[in-house]
Amino acid sequence: MMKNTVKLLTAALLLSTSSAYAADCKAPKAAADMSVEDLSTLYECLRPSLLEGYQKKENELAMAYTDWKAASSAPQAPGMHSGQYLMTYVNDEGYDAYTQYATSDVAMPVGTQIAKEAFTIKANGSVKKGPLLFMEKVGMDAAPDTGGWKYSGLKPKGKKLKVDEKGFCHACHQAWPGQDYLGYPVQKVRISAN
Ligand code: HEC
Repeated sequence: MMKNTVKLLTAALLLSTSSAYAADCKAPKAAADMSVEDLSTLYECLRPSLLEGYQKKENELAMAYTDWKAASSAPQAPGMHSGQYLMTYVNDEGYDAYTQYATSDVAMPVGTQIAKEAFTIKANGSVKKGPLLFMEKVGMDAAPDTGGWKYSGLKPKGKKLKVDEKGFCHACHQAWPGQDYLGYPVQKVRISAN
């Protein structure tokens, strides 16, 4: 009984501090004026609360991806994912191949898993959490309509995102056939393995 109360209290405390923490993470200037360093600082502040949300439902990939390596040095400036800031992580299987950022004849190994965190910066500097998106290379037999990739995602509080893999995700990603359908982070934040 006592134990449970303590547990509940701890959980409540954790929840309240972490949401306040997210609220404390404000952009110091207009989104367009944020340097890579500004974005790194903001991201450091934001990451614990992003993670807490993504891992709320203990989704397997959400639990695993914190062990993967970053492919970008800071959340990149708004890209095609509707003006969001994005941070990319790749598992060991795919890291070396991904971080070549090659533009032709790319064939990512089956077993590659990639995660992309997202958030948006609003005009008043406040930060809104975005979805965590995944691409998993499962091979052509398993995913013949989507170039051998399985697409999925989680909402900011860890619930599964309903995705139209072929009609939405891959419909856009198929713009890069030579890159094995990868979009890559923008140049200035790419981390290269070699
Ligand atoms: C309108 C185009 C578009 C759509 C739709 C789209 N993406 Fe992307 N995606 C991109 C671009 C561009 C990049 C790389 C640059 C960036 O992140 O802005 C990317 C990158 C990614 C990455 C990192 C791996 C990489 O390609 O470098 C993942 C994971 C990802 N997207 C998952 C998804 C999922 C899951 C969906 C569907 C829910 C989806 N994307 C829908 C354009 C799109």
